Amino acid sequence: MSTQYQQVKQAAAYIRERTSLVPKVVLVLGSGLGDYADRMQQAQVISYEQIPGFPISTVKEHKAKLILGTLFDVPVAIMQGRYHYYEGYTQQQITLPIRVLRALGAEILCLTNASGGINLSFEPGDLMMIDDHINFSGVSPLIGENVEEQGLRFPDMSMAYDKTLKQCLLRAAEKSGVDLKRGVYMMYTGPQFETPAEIRFGRAIGADAAGMSTVPEVIVGRHCGFRICGVSCITNMAAGILDQPLSHIEVTETALKVKDQFAALIDAFLREVKEA
Ligand code: HPA
Repeated sequence: MSTQYQQVKQAAAYIRERTSLVPKVVLVLGSGLGDYADRMQQAQVISYEQIPGFPISTVKEHKAKLILGTLFDVPVAIMQGRYHYYEGYTQQQITLPIRVLRALGAEILCLTNASGGINLSFEPGDLMMIDDHINFSGVSPLIGENVEEQGLRFPDMSMAYDKTLKQCLLRAAEKSGVDLKRGVYMMYTGPQFETPAEIRFGRAIGADAAGMSTVPEVIVGRHCGFRICGVSCITNMAAGILDQPLSHIEVTETALKVKDQFAALIDAFLREVKEA
C-alpha cells in the first residue's frame, strides 16, 4: 500500500476514535476567516498536530484545528486553517486532510480563501464565488503513483466547481443580501506577493483573483470524489493595480472586516446545502 494511502487510513481511524460524527460538508477557512468556526457549539476539536501524518502548520494566524460538529442540522467538519504549498511541503502533503475527510465520509467541500483582486471591477471586501481556477503553481498534487482506490489517474476537471453547489451559493447570497461576485481564481505559489507583470499576465489569460492556496485542494478533492465549491474574499487589489505596496496585514484586516457578511453567506449556504 502507498505510504500516503496508509497515512490517510491512519488519520481517518484516529479521528473516528474521537467522534462518531460523519461530516457531510467540509468547510476550509482561509486567511482571516477562521472566526466562523466559533459558530459551532458542542463540537469535537482536534489540533492538526495531534492527528498522525498531518504536517505542522507554520502560518501564525491559522489556528490549525479540525472542528467536527453540526450547523443548521448539517454535520460539518471545519478546517480552521490550512496548509500552503509555500510552507515547504509537497502538494501531496498539504492535501492529506482533504483525503482524510473524504475517507470519513464527507461529500461536499467548500473552500474559502483570501485573494487579491485582478478583475478591475472588484473592490477590497468583495466576496467572489470561484467559477473555475488556473493552476499556476507549476505542479500537481496528483503527480506520482496513483492509488486506484482513491481516484482515477486522469480525473476530469471540466466541472471542478459543482453546478448545484454554485446554485446553492447564489441562492445563499440572495437570501443573505451579499453581493456575490464570480470569477476565476489563479494560484501563484507565493509566499511573495506577485509582481505587477505577473498580475497583468493573469488578467490576460482570464484570471479574476490571485491567491496562494485552494487549487491543490480542489484537484485532490475532485480526484477523491468530492463535490466542490469555493468562496474567495478579495482582501486587496492585486499588485500594480493601486499605487501602494501589498501587505499580509491588509489581507487579514480586510478579511476581518467582512467576517459578518462571510458568516451570513456561509450560514445561508449550509441551509441550502441541506437539500442539495
Ligand atoms: N496575491 C496572492 N495571494 C493573496 C493576495 C494577493 O494579492 N491577497 C490575499 N492573498
